[in-house]
Amino acid sequence: MRWPFLGRLWPIDVVVDPLDISHTRHMADLHAVSFSRPWTDGEFHDMLGQQTVFGFVARELTWGKSKVLGFVLARGAAGEAEILTITVAPDWQGHGLGRKLMDAVLRKAHGERIESVFLEVDETNAPAIALYRKLGFFQVGGRPDYYRDKAGRRTAALVMRRDLR
Ligand SMILES: CC(C)(COP(=O)(O)OP(=O)(O)OC[C@H]1O[C@@H](n2cnc3c(N)ncnc32)[C@H](O)[C@@H]1OP(=O)(O)O)[C@@H](O)C(=O)NCCC(=O)NCCS
Repeated sequence: MRWPFLGRLWPIDVVVDPLDISHTRHMADLHAVSFSRPWTDGEFHDMLGQQTVFGFVARELTWGKSKVLGFVLARGAAGEAEILTITVAPDWQGHGLGRKLMDAVLRKAHGERIESVFLEVDETNAPAIALYRKLGFFQVGGRPDYYRDKAGRRTAALVMRRDLR
C-alpha cells in the first residue's frame, strides 16, 4: 500500500508493507521511545521467526531513503489473533498511520478467516483506546495492576476485542 502523505509541507510517499526480520533494529529503536519496558532487536527477531506472528511497517520514502515511522505486530492462531504491540514515531502520531497499520492487520486477519482480534491496552492510554474504539474494538475484560509506569504507578489493562465475522 502506497500513498502520498499530504499532511506536511510537501507530499511524502508513505508505504505500508509486511514486516520482516530486516526491520527488527528499527522496531526496537521505535519501541524504546514509547514503552517503559522496550523489546529488543533479538526479541523482535525471535517473534518474527514464528509462523503465527505477522505485522506491518509504515515507512517514509524520500529521496531514495527509507525511514521507519511505525509498525504493528500481531499473532494469529486457531481463529483468533492478538495485537502484540503497535507504535508510531512521536512526530508522526495523529496523522493516520496507527489506523492504516491496524487496518492492514485487520484485513489480513479477515483474509485468514480469523474470527476475533484481541488486544490489551493501558487504561490511561487515551489515544490508543480512542483508536481501537474507532476500529470497532470493545472492552471484554480487564487486568488490575497490570502495567507499571516509569514512576512506579500501577495501572490496569483493558482487554478489548473486535469481531471480524
Ligand atoms: C496509539 C498510536 C499507535 C496511535 O497511532 P496514531 O498514528 O497517532 O493514530 P491515528 O493518527 O491513526 O489516529 C486514529 C484515531 O485514533 C484516535 N487518536 C489518535 N491520537 C489521539 C489522541 N492524541 N487523542 C485522542 N484520540 C486520538 C482518534 O480517534 C483518531 O481518529 P481521528 O484522527 O479520525 O480522530 C500512537 O499514539 C502511538 O504510537 N502511541 C505510543 C505507543 C502506544 O501507546 N501504543 C499502543 C499500546 S496498546
